[in-house]
Amino acid sequence: MPDSIATAQEQLGKTLARARAEEDRELATRVRELGAQLAHLFNGLLHMARTHALNNTAFDAPVRDFGSALRELLELLGPATLQCVEDQIFVNDLRIRFDKLIEQSITLGTDLHRHGVGGLTFNAPLDDPEIRTIVRLFSSPPGPSEPRAALQTELAAAGMSSVQVHPPFRFRITGEELHQATREFREVYLASASTVAGVFATLGADRLPSPLPVRRLVHQLIDASRFGDSAEVARRAEDAMPPFAQHTLMVTNLSLMIGRAAGLSDASLADLGVAAMFHDVGFTMREDGYSVPFERHTRAGLRVLLRQRGFHRAKLRRLLTVLQHHYAFDDTRGLPALYARIVHIADDYDILTRYRPDQGPILSTPDCLARMAAQAGKAYDPLLTQLFCNIMGRFPPGAILSLVDGHLVLSISTVRSPETFDKPLCKVIRRPDGSAPEGDEFLDLADGGRVAKVHHPQGLTPVGGHGGVG
Ligand SMILES: [Fe+2]
Ligand SMILES: [Fe+2]
Repeated sequence: MPDSIATAQEQLGKTLARARAEEDRELATRVRELGAQLAHLFNGLLHMARTHALNNTAFDAPVRDFGSALRELLELLGPATLQCVEDQIFVNDLRIRFDKLIEQSITLGTDLHRHGVGGLTFNAPLDDPEIRTIVRLFSSPPGPSEPRAALQTELAAAGMSSVQVHPPFRFRITGEELHQATREFREVYLASASTVAGVFATLGADRLPSPLPVRRLVHQLIDASRFGDSAEVARRAEDAMPPFAQHTLMVTNLSLMIGRAAGLSDASLADLGVAAMFHDVGFTMREDGYSVPFERHTRAGLRVLLRQRGFHRAKLRRLLTVLQHHYAFDDTRGLPALYARIVHIADDYDILTRYRPDQGPILSTPDCLARMAAQAGKAYDPLLTQLFCNIMGRFPPGAILSLVDGHLVLSISTVRSPETFDKPLCKVIRRPDGSAPEGDEFLDLADGGRVAKVHHPQGLTPVGGHGGVG
C-alpha cells in the first residue's frame, strides 16, 4: 500500500513538473538537452545500422548513452514523447534545436516516416538489447501494408509494449483523420468546462490562483486543436457549460488560433492560452455580495493574480492581458501588450457573435468580422486583425447562408487553404425543395456552390447540433 501511494505521489510530481516545464527555465533547458541527445543518438544509430551489423562494438557507446539519456528524461518528466513534425523535432512539446551542422545530418523524421511513424512514446527505461531491437526494427524495410501497426506488434513481441509508435502529424488532414481530430478536440473541450469551473470557484473563495491546472488544460487544447478545425467544434461542444466557462474557453480557443497564425512558439502559445483563461478572472470576485461590475473587473482581476507568489515572465504577461484586454490598439495610454491585443480581438468576436437566450447573437459571424476589420488600426491591431480574417474567412463558422441553388446551409469550417477563403465546408439546414436532411448532410463550397445571401441570425435559435433554424 505505501508503495502505491509513493508511486502515485511520484506520478503527481512528474505531472506537475511537466506542467511547470514551460515556466521553469532550468527544467526546460535540461529536457531540451536530453531531448537533443536522444534524437541525435537515435539518428546516429539508424545511420550506423545501414553499414554495420548490430552486434558491432561501434554500437556499444551510443546505445548506452541513449539508454541513460532516456532514463534521465523519464525521471524528470514521466513518459517521454519524441515527435518529428515536418523537419522539426519535439520532446514532450518542447522544440529541440540543433547546431546547423548537426541539423543537416538529422534524417530521423524521414527514417520514421518510412514506417508510417511520426513519433514514439517511451513509458519505461530500456536496456541495451531492447534499444538495439528498436534500431533493428526501424532500419529494416517497412512492412508491405500498415507498417506502423506491424512495427507496434513487433515491439510488443519483443517485450516492449512500453514503447508506443504514433502516426505522423500533418498540417493538412482530411476525412477520417479530421473526424478523429475533431472528436479529440471536442472531448478535451467538454472536459475543460469542469476544470475551468473548479479553478474559478476556488478563486471566488479567496484562494491563491494556481496556474497549473489551467496550464495543463491549455496544453491539451493546443495539442488537440493543432490540426483540427476548432472554432465550430468548440461552439457546438459548449451547450452544457456554464456561461462563464463558455466565454472563457472560446476566448482562449480563438486567441490560440490567432497566436498560432502569428507564428508564436508552443511555449508562448501556452503563456497566451493561460493569460486568455484568466482574462476575465476579476468577475469571480464579489463586492457586497454581488459580482464585480464591468468597470472594475480588470482591477479586480489584477488583485486576484497578484495573490500568486513569484514574478516571472508568464505572470507578467497574464497581468498585462488582464489589465489591457479592453484597451484599443490606438489607446492614448500606449500600445497594449501583444497578448492583450490578441485577447481583445478574440474577446470582442465572442461577445458579438455569441447566442444569447431568445435573442440570437448581436451580429452574424460575417458581419462581425467585417465590422472588426473596419476597426483595424483603431480598436484592433491591424496585423492581428488581418490574421484573424485570414483564419475565419469570408463566411466564418456559424454563418447561415442561402446558396444560389436554393440550399440553406450553416458554415462549419474556418479557412482551410487560401483558395477556400470564401468557400467553407457547410452543413445543410434545408434542401432546395424545402426538406430538412434527416442526418448530417454536408456541402463543401470548395466543390462548387455560390452564396446568394448571408442571413442575420437575430432571434433564430442556434443551429447545428441544436436543431433547425426558425
Ligand atoms: Fe473583460
Ligand atoms: Fe471577456
